[in-house]
Formats: sequence, C-alpha cells, structure tokens
Amino acid sequence: MEIRVTDTQLLDWAGDSLAIGLFEDAVELTGDLATLDQKFAGLLTELIAEEEFKGKLASSVGTRVGGTATVRKVILVGLGKKEALKLDTLRRAAANAARTAKKQKSKTLALSLPIWNNDPAQTAQALAEGVQLALYQDNRFKSEPEENSIQVEQVDLLGLGGQEAAVSLANQICSGVILARQLVAAPANSVTPVTMAETATQIASEHGLQIEILEREDCEKLGMGAFLAVAQASDLPPKFIHLTYKPEGTPKRKLAIIGKGLTFDSGGLNIKGAGSGIESMKMDMGGAAATLGAAKVIGQIKPDVEVHFISAVTENMISGRAMHPGDVIKASNGKTIEVNNTDAEGRLTLADALVFTEKLGVDAIVDLATLTGACVIALGDDIAGLFTPSDTLATELEKAAQIAGEKIWRLPMEERYFEGLKSGIADMKNTGPRPGGSITAALFLKQFLKETTWAHLDVAGPVWADKENGYNNAGATGFGVRTLVHWVLNEA
Ligand code: BES
Ligand code: MN
Ligand code: ZN
Repeated sequence: MEIRVTDTQLLDWAGDSLAIGLFEDAVELTGDLATLDQKFAGLLTELIAEEEFKGKLASSVGTRVGGTATVRKVILVGLGKKEALKLDTLRRAAANAARTAKKQKSKTLALSLPIWNNDPAQTAQALAEGVQLALYQDNRFKSEPEENSIQVEQVDLLGLGGQEAAVSLANQICSGVILARQLVAAPANSVTPVTMAETATQIASEHGLQIEILEREDCEKLGMGAFLAVAQASDLPPKFIHLTYKPEGTPKRKLAIIGKGLTFDSGGLNIKGAGSGIESMKMDMGGAAATLGAAKVIGQIKPDVEVHFISAVTENMISGRAMHPGDVIKASNGKTIEVNNTDAEGRLTLADALVFTEKLGVDAIVDLATLTGACVIALGDDIAGLFTPSDTLATELEKAAQIAGEKIWRLPMEERYFEGLKSGIADMKNTGPRPGGSITAALFLKQFLKETTWAHLDVAGPVWADKENGYNNAGATGFGVRTLVHWVLNEA
C-alpha cells in the first residue's frame, strides 16, 4: 500500500472512496462540503439525515455515490467535539475510514481530515499510522488467506502536500509495530528463543546494528542464576539478546531498553490452572517484541543517541529439571532469591537483564514486561502501568506515550510493600501477597539496580486486544514500540 500526500482539493479528487471528517454537532455542510453536496445531488445531506449522523467519536457512515461523479463512494467519519480533538482521534478516524473503504471494496482512498494543533507533520504521520495499522492482516498461519477481497492500494492525504517525511517516518514506525505484532501473535511452537535471536540478528544486519547473543554458557559465566533457573526446564536453549545502535560520532545520550522475553509461560511447577489463560501465554514476550520492534525503527531513523536493546529470552516450562517451588537461586549481582512461586518468572529473567544493562553505563533504562495479572486488574486491558523512582523519566515517558497514542499510568513504588518479599532463607522472595502485586513486582526489579535512572512498564494488558478497537485489530497490538521510539527521538 502506498500513502501519498497531496494538495489536491476535496472537490478535485478522483478515485474509489472519499472519507470526510466531521465534528460532533457541526455536521451542517458549508464551503467546499456544500459544493460537493451539490455535485453529488444532495447525497451528503441525505446521508446525514437518513443515518442520523451526528459526528460522534468513532462513528462512520458510507454510501455509493453513483451517477457521473469521479468518486465512487463517500465515507463520513465522526471526530467528536472540536475542542477535544486529539492526535489519536485522527489516527483512529483514519483507521475507521480505511476499514470502511476496505468493506466498500475500494482500491483508492482519500482522507479529508482536519489538521491537529496547526501541525501538518504530526497530522500526516498519525493518519499514515492509523491507516496502516488498521489494514494490517496476518494470514501467516492460514493455509489459504481468509478472504481474497480487494485491498486498499493507495491512500491520499488531502491538504497535506509536502509532508513526505512525516509519512516515511510513519512507515518506519509501522514496520516496527507490525514486527512486534507478528512476534506476539505467533504461537510458541513458531516463535522460540532461537527464532527471537534470529530475528534480532536479521534486524542487526538489515539496519546496521551491533549484535551479541549470549548462549547458556556465557550466561553461566556471568552468574545469571536467575535467568538460567527459569530456562532450565526448557528443551530449547536460552538466548540473551543484546543489540546496540550507535550513531556516528559521540552520542548525546546512551539509553537502554529491556523487554521480558518469555516465548511461553506455563507457570512452571506452579502451573497455570484452569481459567488462567495459559493458552494466551505465547504473548509473554510482548516486551521483547516491542524492544525488537523499536530496534528496527531506530535502526532506520538513525537518531543521535546510543541505544541498547536487551532481552533474556526463554520459556517457562516443566520437566524433571524444573525449578522446585522453594528453590533458592542467585542472580548475577550476588543477591539470593527464594522462588516461592515459579510463575513469577519474568522478574527473575529481568533481574539478570537489569544487572547486565547497568554495567553498560547508560543514562537511563526502560523495561517493558508482561509482568503481572495484577496490573491488568488495576488498569484494564488498554493501559500499561508505569513504575519509576524518577519523576523526570516518568514525565519523559508520559510525553512520549501521549504523542504515540499509547496509554500509560504511573503507579506508586510504595517501599513498605517490599516487606511482603521478605524471605526467611534468602535475601528476598520472588512473590509477595496478592494485593499490590504489580507494585511488589516493580520493587523486586529495583533490587537489581544500584543507581541508574530506570522505569518499568507493565504491559500485561495492552499487548493483546480481545476486540478490534481503533487502529488495533483483535490480537497482538504491538504496544510499546511507538512510545519507545518517541522517547528515544525526544532524547536525541
Ligand atoms: N506472564 C504472567 C503475567 C500475565 C498475566 C501476563 C496475565 C499477561 C496476562 C506472569 O509471569 C505471571 O504469571 N505473573 C503472576 C505473578 C504471581 C505468581 C505473583 C500473576 O500475575 O499471576
Ligand atoms: Mn508467570
Ligand atoms: Zn510470565
């Protein structure tokens, strides 16, 4: 699919589907729209009245134009209240129009939508993202594609002539989001620690990043007893992935991104029981997927900042070699952990990843992890939990997420709750009481850093969508890639 920017006017565009954005309670047709309505013999007025179209957020109506018009179909997209217009509303409106155009069997689509905040670049980028993310389809695991329907091949962004750079930025970002979606959606017999390492190696060679894959023996030498304890029941070799993007010259800042990379989480001997969603646990590498997706984007944009992308990848399985509940293990910073629950495995893999990353001497570390069901209970499916002792980093990430259209919400790192992780035998337990479970998980992670500025995003909810919503299809969302990219670009 090709996305073009053009100064062609609404009245002059010729093609299959023309989508027009209208604000709530401002659906009376004036100016060009009145002229267009005349050209279409009053069709727009009729459509608005018949469908009781009010311009409400996320609403849309479409119809055939007919006659001799140069446009075959028209789509009206609701934008909600004018005062409340957000960049993400436009991303969603573009998605909405694209889905409708596809149903209309259109090959070409034009978007006539307002410019957000007098910022044509951000607007063009958001529209291009919305269209591509909504039209993404995953047929990899079907013997035949489900539908052989006509695809939208060309999208024209009207009134946005000259914004080519914004569209190519959107294309780069979407390539990372789509990679993350593909990795998360693929089942655990398809995406394994081995294939994750292969994907990272491919990103490195395609976009000129450095790559280091630590094998089990390398991790042993580094004393990564926590990561390896999780990996020990799997028949597949663990892979510790370290990708480095280095700009030319001396970088302004050095950043690191860590992703939890459990290609499957059975729970271990504390096996996930009925109703725990064990069959969805192929998505437990959503943090690593976002990390690799971000690496792919950063490798293309080449900003003036050094970025390390890290994931300790394995699966949490059962076998005669599995961790026993109650085992005491030792992480690479020397701290001992009583594993009172083998299903709290993500924090064990992250512990060694954090120790490794801090030694790189970076200015800031952000980790993304599908870490706790408790975070989903707290914030629901759409919102990631943000945990950090640093107000500055919190603000940076909130700003990045805002512009990306991804939702994050800061939760407190209440130090007293660390008491819940006190162990009678080791330095700490890996699991505390159920209340505040996402907070004790974050406090656990903090034990593996000395002083580096750090934030943790618990993405257990938003990496997966049960239903289609805006530009997210049902299934993997690629959550995190866009926030990470904006964060890195803002630091450059
Ligand atoms: N991968 C899960 C967390 C998860 C749950 C992600 C639901 C996505 C959806 C994690 O490894 C886990 O099992 N966490 C336990 C922790 C508990 C044992 C302290 C949980 O949340 O139940
Ligand atoms: Mn688990
Ligand atoms: Zn897990």
